[in-house]
Amino acid sequence: MIEIKNLHKSFGELNVLNGISITAEEGQSLVVMGKSGQGKSVLLKLITRLLYPDSGNIYIDDEDLVRLNAKELAACRLKFGMLFQSAALFDSLNICDNVGIGLRAYKRHSDAEIDSICAESLERVGLIDVGKKFPAQLSGGMRKRVGLARVVAMKPKYILYDEPTTGLDPVTSAQIAILIKEMQEDLKVTSIIVTHDIPTGFFLADKIVLLDQGNFSFVGSVEEMRKSEMKSVQDFISGYKEEADIKFR
Ligand SMILES: Nc1ncnc2c1ncn2[C@@H]1O[C@H](COP(=O)(O)OP(=O)(O)O)[C@@H](O)[C@H]1O
Ligand SMILES: [Mg+2]
Repeated sequence: MIEIKNLHKSFGELNVLNGISITAEEGQSLVVMGKSGQGKSVLLKLITRLLYPDSGNIYIDDEDLVRLNAKELAACRLKFGMLFQSAALFDSLNICDNVGIGLRAYKRHSDAEIDSICAESLERVGLIDVGKKFPAQLSGGMRKRVGLARVVAMKPKYILYDEPTTGLDPVTSAQIAILIKEMQEDLKVTSIIVTHDIPTGFFLADKIVLLDQGNFSFVGSVEEMRKSEMKSVQDFISGYKEEADIKFR
């Protein structure tokens, strides 16, 4: 469980997070929506302690992330997988080495074991026979799948997604969202998904929050959000039609 309590983060004069609190329940998907520049990526960076909060607490399985020393932090970080918007692949490494990079750095596996975990992870995301290729040879959707394979190869307990479908065309974007959902159910991970893409957010959320001017202006289910008459929700989802929903199979 990830429990965030009264988290504040500013950069100089700019207040990005103004005391937000939220819990990501075990095995569930928490979707954080919000317009660009509202602090969604900052929130994920705080949860992985790439940034340090001004105040507040982040409990990961009852351990306060803010208080961990370097060694404890390293152990805690291994619980997390993170999928970045760009997929963050290394251009000079082939796909197999990209997927295996975390395994080589942090886990004690033989080369043969790593090869087999990489192949299995790539297969899980629907990629076969791409191991020897390089990122530049793959489409945006395929690169995203490779990023996802690299995350699942580490068998994380938590997965954080930063705009997993942004920049993809609607069809590819729906395919990636479906893949994420299948994996979530399969691997029973707890996840936080940050997105400003409404179809993706609605499709993946068990619980949804709307980040608006430093606070969560809405917390609830997808159905509640669809029906909400709150101004911030209306501003965000206005014009969205159910026809745009992603369908499962
Ligand atoms: N390291 C940083 N230093 C200063 N300002 C930052 C830093 N990271 C993010 N910001 C600012 O914080 C705000 C929120 O950014 P971000 O979390 O990236 O928004 P988004 O919701 O689009 O992901 C933006 O105004 C951004 O410019
Ligand atoms: Mg962002």
